[in-house]
Amino acid sequence: MAKHSKNETIVNQGVSFEQIGPGESERRKWLIACGAAGGVAAVAGGIPFAVSMAPSEKAKSAGAPVEVDISSIPPGGLKTVEWRGKPVWIVRRTPEMLESLNSLEDKLADPKSARKEIPTPEYAKNSHRSIKPEIFVTVGICSHLGCSPVSKFASGPGSDMGNDWPGGFLCPCHGSTFDVAGRVYANKPAPDNLEVPRHMYLSDSKIVIGRDEKGEA
Ligand code: FES
Repeated sequence: MAKHSKNETIVNQGVSFEQIGPGESERRKWLIACGAAGGVAAVAGGIPFAVSMAPSEKAKSAGAPVEVDISSIPPGGLKTVEWRGKPVWIVRRTPEMLESLNSLEDKLADPKSARKEIPTPEYAKNSHRSIKPEIFVTVGICSHLGCSPVSKFASGPGSDMGNDWPGGFLCPCHGSTFDVAGRVYANKPAPDNLEVPRHMYLSDSKIVIGRDEKGEA
């Protein structure tokens, strides 16, 4: 570990791997990556993250923030990183994906992210559930029993989800479906939307997960 002043600490090395391109199974790759923890491929994408303020003991024990370079994610692509032992997805949504969010409200269980069981940060309480509309950050764990959904970004007749499927995520365990903002459809086993973790931008190409303007999660 590099040496730093008393108030400066290298707090984490994000373990990440990329999944670029829609339609692939994050879950399978996630499981593979977890099984290969410590392997060269799994850690190669990790980016050390330095914070200027020492985190609290509670935050340190829970797991530190992770810095992520999002510049390589193409439109419609998804990148997975690990934060506090959980898969976090960063999706670069296309204009078409964003457009699909506008006509779904009456089909969703919590379109305005108002439920408090899994609180949504204020900056993500909007229809796209994100700071910048095109970049969506979410924890890839289903709010039902904790399976990891898979992306189903293809829409319409070209998808395997039905002609009126607008694109989103499917939890393969019990069939819960989510839109591309992680909002769960009504009358599904999952009670809540996918979690939006606290995060913020360090630059146009870098975000940090687990910390925002208010401090660490
Ligand atoms: S764990 Fe996702 S629907 Fe049951």
